[in-house]
Amino acid sequence: WGKTGHRVTGEIAQEHLTGKAKRALEDLLDGHSLAFVSTFADDIKADRSFSKYSAWHYVNYPLGVGYKDSEKSEYGDIVTAIEDCIKKVKDKNNSREDRVFHLKLLIHFIGDLHQPMHASREEDKGGNDIQVQWFGQGSNLHRVWDKNLIESYGMTYTELAHELTDVDRKQRKTIQEGSIYDWVDESHEICAELYDSVEIGQKLGYRYSYDYNDLLFQQLQKGGLRLAKVLNDIFA
Ligand code: ADE
Ligand code: ZN
Ligand code: ZN
Repeated sequence: WGKTGHRVTGEIAQEHLTGKAKRALEDLLDGHSLAFVSTFADDIKADRSFSKYSAWHYVNYPLGVGYKDSEKSEYGDIVTAIEDCIKKVKDKNNSREDRVFHLKLLIHFIGDLHQPMHASREEDKGGNDIQVQWFGQGSNLHRVWDKNLIESYGMTYTELAHELTDVDRKQRKTIQEGSIYDWVDESHEICAELYDSVEIGQKLGYRYSYDYNDLLFQQLQKGGLRLAKVLNDIFA
């Protein structure tokens, strides 16, 4: 996601933390909100000393295949990244600095895991090479899902989060079920449908924004609730 998607994810998660997780996070993040730190992993991309983390934002494997059966990248991927971050944050033998660094990455990667084009395929770099028009401007399928679609609703991240944070207990439990492996395959399956529904060079605008409103909002909501789940488990 772009900044808005990550902040919405963080803001929704913030509303679903246990007391224990809230206190632990307030301490580790020096009082900053999840929304505030959620873009950190993108902010460090410009610094070449952090280049080893660039492959951690996504995973590509053939459509129709499950993550577990896929060939893994030697540079790591979003799934191994999340596992590694959880381990680093949990281990109190690690320095506070190291735990905080990986916590900020974790908050970001759980968001990206729910952007369908971040659980994608290699051939076109997760839709980055699928050029399309967005309201008459050049874009690509990846960018449409990172930011164009979210921005088309003209809502701030707090407005979006407010819209998505109210779920009943049963619905929340259902969304929070499963593992990282289930969640990545779910995004990957959605990604396959998104590829099927566009053609190269297609003009996208109001119709696309309307048709994918529900799916976009669902992915943001799942990201937020599942981030809360992962954090609640870590600090239980
Ligand atoms: N670069 C290559 N594949 C990518 C993907 N799925 N998402 C973001 N960046 C990528
Ligand atoms: Zn990212
Ligand atoms: Zn992206």
